[in-house]
Amino acid sequence: MSNKIFIDACLGKETPYTPVWMMRQAGRYLPQYQKVRQSAGDFLNLCHDPKKACEVSLQPVDIVGVDACIMFSDILVVPNEMGMELSFIKGEGPKFSAPIAFESDLDKLLGGDEAASKITYVYETIRLIKEQLAEDKALIGFTGSPWTLATYMIEGQGSKTYNICKKMMYTNPQLLHKILTKITEVVKLYMEKQIQSGIDVVQIFDSWAAAIEPSKYDEFSWKYMIEIVDYLKEKYPHIPVILFPKGVVGFLDKVYGNFDVFGVDWSTPMAMAKEKLGDRYVLQGNMEPCRLYSKEATTESVEALNIIMEGKRHIFNLGHGILPDVPVDHAKHFISECHRVSAK
Ligand code: CP3
Repeated sequence: MSNKIFIDACLGKETPYTPVWMMRQAGRYLPQYQKVRQSAGDFLNLCHDPKKACEVSLQPVDIVGVDACIMFSDILVVPNEMGMELSFIKGEGPKFSAPIAFESDLDKLLGGDEAASKITYVYETIRLIKEQLAEDKALIGFTGSPWTLATYMIEGQGSKTYNICKKMMYTNPQLLHKILTKITEVVKLYMEKQIQSGIDVVQIFDSWAAAIEPSKYDEFSWKYMIEIVDYLKEKYPHIPVILFPKGVVGFLDKVYGNFDVFGVDWSTPMAMAKEKLGDRYVLQGNMEPCRLYSKEATTESVEALNIIMEGKRHIFNLGHGILPDVPVDHAKHFISECHRVSAK
């Protein structure tokens, strides 16, 4: 047993209660985050400032009482350090000024260790958090999946239809695979450096998994995530890996790989995920994030999830990120309800 309940839970061991954290827990719903965010000016400045990034990472641990700290950064620092100019425009989200359209655009970008060694501010943030985080809390490092990162690198921004990447998928799959392969090589080393800097567990966000039809999902996303898992597991078998592919009900029967925790999004019934995957993977999730607007709706969901999972092989979380206008008090209520209902 480790001294961290969260790590024991990731490895399927029995724990005195079911641990909980929230995706996007370090963020705008916290007034304390807003204050540090303002002092940083631009959002990327906050990512580039290890002291401030460390401070906002620790806020939800201290204020809301989660069992794990996720380091504060963004998935898009990877393409940014590969050489793509990135800006965050208020109200519009992230934007790359020169998206990848041709092979020559890709060839200009840094790959492998050249890119991964540029992300020094993330490694420094991890070292600072490690110095201050309580011994019994786990530190989660993360990355976007190659597919999710590729959607931003090809579309240049968030998308409703993903038509530019999907046009490439069906008309020039070789180029899409070349892009995914280059990202995968950077991400493997990026995650390795996060582990060497002190993270206890890895989560890979495949936020835009649902953009791919189920019969193409393995080829264009899952297999690249599993390549990263295999690389990390061979070198760091003690570090648990969580995969969060959002919106993949149609792929549940085909899930494979040597990872530890499957993140269940809110649109997938937990009972179905348990039936299909519960004996092979610990399940994380999956309260619908908007239930946080109501304390009653929150309690109802936490109790139902605990009955389904029977307090075993489970980590409580939301089924996607917490929204900026959720009252902090409701977030605290969610955490304390998870602890209350699952206490043994
Ligand atoms: O608390 C945590 O989870 C750690 C921090 C974190 C952020 N982004 C901070 C952030 C994490 C894990 C991410 C991951 C991320 N970033 C994902 C995958 C997770 C998911 O939600 O599916 C994605 C798709 C991104 C890309 C991204 N970054 C978008 C689309 C946006 C704009 C979204 C918005 O709500 O405006 C960001 C910006 C961002 N990343 C913010 C935060 C706190 C808000 C920026 C601000 O403070 O102004």
